[in-house]
Amino acid sequence: MEYSKHIKRLGTTLFELLSEALGLEPDHLVRLDCAKGHAILSHYYPACPEPELTMGTTKHSDPDFLTILLQDGTGGLQVLHQNQWVNVPPISGALVVNIGDLLQLISNDKFISVEHRVLASHVGPRVSVACFFTPHLYPSTRLYGPIKDLLSEDDPPVYRETTVKDFITYYDSKGLDGNSALTYFKL
Ligand code: OGA
Ligand code: NI
Repeated sequence: MEYSKHIKRLGTTLFELLSEALGLEPDHLVRLDCAKGHAILSHYYPACPEPELTMGTTKHSDPDFLTILLQDGTGGLQVLHQNQWVNVPPISGALVVNIGDLLQLISNDKFISVEHRVLASHVGPRVSVACFFTPHLYPSTRLYGPIKDLLSEDDPPVYRETTVKDFITYYDSKGLDGNSALTYFKL
């Protein structure tokens, strides 16, 4: 519970910085309830005798606004950068922050959600703690679409509006098939 409190504070600060980076008022993303709900999900990856035959977690981007990830010292997390898998080496005391699909949607592609995966390994177990910023546990009919202040004639909306619930429902129904759920919400 203590970790959850700290991570909410950190998340709120990050949303303020991200708002400013978009040229918006610092409280813009928080007022959109981006920091309203967070779900903490812990993973346990057992040591794998034949890692070349499987994956720890297959390629995906997260269906939230932002993810703050705490990984242990084992390693195995990779992000897709310019079509290449790049290791995210564990740094003691550091957190990994990932942009999620919903932030890509409301920023109209100004921020891009990161594709990532976790390799299976002989070394283990590996433990990670992911905190997903998403208000989907709050029953809300709020529609999220590209933020109006970011749009212009040269910058038309790329996505249609959706509720968080509908987005997550589609994401879950699609499964981790390697394709982005955002495609389905493109105009
Ligand atoms: C996730 C995820 C990475 C990890 O939970 O969405 O990508 O290091 N976790 O466990
Ligand atoms: Ni993830």
